[in-house]
Amino acid sequence: MSQQHNPASDPAQTPATAAAPVILTGDRPTGPLHLGHFVGSLRNRVAYQDQYRQFVMLADAQALTDNMDDTNKVHRNVVEVALDYLAVGIDPSRSTIFIQSQVPELAELTFYYLNLVTVARLERNPTVKTEIALRGFERDIPAGFLTYPASQASDISAFKATLVPVGEDQIPMIEQCNEIVRRFNRIANRDILVECKALVPEIGRLPGIDGKAKMSKSLGNTINLGDSADAIRAAVKQVYTDPLHLKVSDPGHLEGNVAFLYLDAFDPEKEALEEMKAHYTRGGLGDSVVKKRLDVVLQEMLAPIRERREHFAQDKGQVLQMLKEGTMKARETAAQTMDEVRRALGLSYF
Ligand code: TRP
Repeated sequence: MSQQHNPASDPAQTPATAAAPVILTGDRPTGPLHLGHFVGSLRNRVAYQDQYRQFVMLADAQALTDNMDDTNKVHRNVVEVALDYLAVGIDPSRSTIFIQSQVPELAELTFYYLNLVTVARLERNPTVKTEIALRGFERDIPAGFLTYPASQASDISAFKATLVPVGEDQIPMIEQCNEIVRRFNRIANRDILVECKALVPEIGRLPGIDGKAKMSKSLGNTINLGDSADAIRAAVKQVYTDPLHLKVSDPGHLEGNVAFLYLDAFDPEKEALEEMKAHYTRGGLGDSVVKKRLDVVLQEMLAPIRERREHFAQDKGQVLQMLKEGTMKARETAAQTMDEVRRALGLSYF
């Protein structure tokens, strides 16, 4: 993430006030969150909530753009992802956690934004293009899927967010959002909406346990935040290491070695880790020793998260109540922007 917005480097842990910059971020609730999410976004959100006015959105409406055949999955995962948020320490008293579909202003805003983008521009959006290829839609692209960049522009601009923490793959979405914002302001003749910046984490993607570049639910190579101790142990056993490291005495390689990549990301004892790496490359250190250390590190890190998750999961009614309050708060902000937008478009009559 860029220097000036790195909360870790800012000692002033002042609680965010109304004047603080607005951050908006979100997830499609289609499955449990995993270590990749933890490294790429969740950890940062916990830090951001003290410095910014942070909105965290459960993008259920966006999730439906390619999940209309399984609405139940999306519904179920709204609470599951909310539990993941609470478990890692996103605090509803410092962050506004809300459900996208329950803020109808976002749908209303999207309806007007769709007139500020062309079909050709949507088809050229690299994020959408990649996702269409991945899903094999070919010519049968749901119109809602093709146009979701307009919806995402609404998510961001309705809250006048200036900072949007996203993965690198989402940068084209931010660019398209800003195009819509500029077009709108030109039409309104006033800067009603604000442009935003992507906050892309510096640390690269966490690979999957199988060594594939991305940890992803659809690839089945994740370690989930809510995983049991046994599940973590089993996953660590499967972690991809160095296929050429056959005998303990052989020198091992660190490149692409997922066990070490995870230790780099999570082992707090850096010095011991460096020694372990040296020993491994020299030869004489077996994979089982490295994996034993990885198991200890992950178990220690994930146990408190799992316990908090289980604690909150005991009272789903309370989780829903928290989401309801967050959604009401989010709606107030979105409704204010919507009011300004309606006026600017000559859509205010009574
Ligand atoms: N498209 C994002 C993703 O797939 C989720 C999302 C929806 C989002 N609306 C957003 C992210 C607004 C940031 C801001 O991860």
